[in-house]
Amino acid sequence: MLKTHNCGELRAASAGQSVTLAGWVHRRRDHGGLIFIDLRDRAGITQVVFNPEIAKDTHDDATDLRNEFVIQITGEVAQRPRGTENLRLPTGEIEVLVHSLKIFNSSKTPPFYINEEGEVDESLLLRYRYLHLRRASLRDRMILRHRVIKFMRDFLDARGFIEVETPIMIKSTPEGARDYLVPSRIHAGKFYALPQSPQQLKQLLMVAGFEKYYQIARCFRDEDLRADRQPEFTQLDMEMSFVDEEDILALVEELFTSLVETVTPDIRLVKPFPRMPYAEVMSKYGTDKPDIRFGLELRDVSAIVAASEFKVFKSAIQNKGGVKGICLPGCANYTHKQIEELTEMARGCGAKGLLSLAWMHSDSPKDIENLQLDKIKSVAIKYLNIDQVKQILNKFDASPGDLILIAAGENNLVNKVLDELRREMARRLNLCDPTLMAFVFITNFPLFDWSEERKMWDSMHHPFTAPFEADIALLDSDPAKVRARHYDIVCNGYELSSGSIRIHNRVMQEKIFNILGYAREEIESKFGSFLEALEYGAPPHGGIAPGIDRFIMMLTNSKTIRDVIAFPKNQAAIDVMTDAPSFISDQQLEELHLKVTDIEKQAESF
Ligand code: AMO
Repeated sequence: MLKTHNCGELRAASAGQSVTLAGWVHRRRDHGGLIFIDLRDRAGITQVVFNPEIAKDTHDDATDLRNEFVIQITGEVAQRPRGTENLRLPTGEIEVLVHSLKIFNSSKTPPFYINEEGEVDESLLLRYRYLHLRRASLRDRMILRHRVIKFMRDFLDARGFIEVETPIMIKSTPEGARDYLVPSRIHAGKFYALPQSPQQLKQLLMVAGFEKYYQIARCFRDEDLRADRQPEFTQLDMEMSFVDEEDILALVEELFTSLVETVTPDIRLVKPFPRMPYAEVMSKYGTDKPDIRFGLELRDVSAIVAASEFKVFKSAIQNKGGVKGICLPGCANYTHKQIEELTEMARGCGAKGLLSLAWMHSDSPKDIENLQLDKIKSVAIKYLNIDQVKQILNKFDASPGDLILIAAGENNLVNKVLDELRREMARRLNLCDPTLMAFVFITNFPLFDWSEERKMWDSMHHPFTAPFEADIALLDSDPAKVRARHYDIVCNGYELSSGSIRIHNRVMQEKIFNILGYAREEIESKFGSFLEALEYGAPPHGGIAPGIDRFIMMLTNSKTIRDVIAFPKNQAAIDVMTDAPSFISDQQLEELHLKVTDIEKQAESF
């Protein structure tokens, strides 16, 4: 190699040794004739010193060096003079006194500092991603990502899992998003789909007898992007035969526990991972992705206020909705402006308004029984009697100084509003411990979800999920009540993975497709070969697919998923660096039997 050591390696014990290092100029300082360079490679930083008294010509050459030049030096390791050690650097006790210098390449001045982590417009960082990747923060996340994936591979290999690559050009698998499509040149008018996940393929591997499969699988989904979504992302895709829910959850719990404890020992876990049925999380948190690092649980006060004259409450309950709230400790003194801000947030989620109820005088005793109404500040006080107020305070186990926020209306809406407020208030009250990863398994999902838009049942997970044995009779009579053998892993408020025990029987699979409203021909054309495979001794099986990008995002406390992917797309699904997607030539279009109807745009670019 062009170096004998890396830049993170040398210590005081190496003093006197002759070494060759190669890397980038991280920072340079001129001090009274001496030139100090912080030399950086992937492993760290070493200070190298150009002294005209040691090598005059080399020192002269070093005057040309600028940040990000890529160089090689040879010199002697020396202990730094007493008092000049840098304790923040692992190599801070030593420096290399340079004899010779080779400049491999100069560098233009980078558009942002590499040696500082300061805020820079993200589009600039994405445009020069290869420079952003030189920054320590991003580089370290990529190294951590490598270690996570290596751990997953070793863990599953040790338990008898086989890694199998599945194709990227396939026939569409329904996962709820739009497909990315690839036109066929050879078969005019036909398209491959990029996998939204290898769902059917991994099930076919179970039919094939592989028993334990995994893959670091790239998935592609054309859907609205958010901070935790990318058009292409990576799953740890797994499938096992002859298992039930417990086997899969136990495996995943062991995997994540040992992974986090090995790779990021500073992060604490809630152990064992709690399990919560879907109905319970929806009622407590208003979402199936709860952040359980903090309380602020939702409480239902519908029964208490049902008899009130307050129109907002009355109409919500009459229309089969509900009245729920959250209690914010120590927030009774929130100003009108602060409450208006939260109300605006609630309106943003579709609520008509938000009701606040503050228990003033935080120094008064927590004595709900003897409460006087003048201690309560709320517009609803006109419509509630003292008894109802007491019951509400009891329901939230409130204390003097607390602020209760109440939303009324259609159940899904109330849940959405309060979930949003709960997360926002946890941020404001600093309740999200960044050193804690609170995993939770959500179970007992309904199998179907009614789509108002299609006036049809949708799968809550995907159509391959098996119903509870005990609920099979309900498939015909009351599909809404059928529970699914589906489980999610949620961590710190993000859905980390979904999975299920699958249907392994053709008749049942067809029945589910029918309930989902697929026509007979559609079933045949989309799933014909898959259904046929279920007739050739398909074993009972199930699996799960944790999102790797999302997991690393949580592990590193990153703000967006883009911070843990080497070359991500921006929020408009554009690769800013290479400018993909891009127009293609008329010849390519012709070969692919395609016509772009927005011809002007196409023409402009060529
Ligand atoms: P699901 O669709 O729930 O299940 O996806 C599993 C996990 O993949 C991650 N994920 C994403 N990550 C980044 N960007 C996206 N656009 C994105 N979409 C999903 C999430 C999610 O929890 N085949 C099933 C799994 C199974 O049943 O085994 C599936 O793909 O972390």
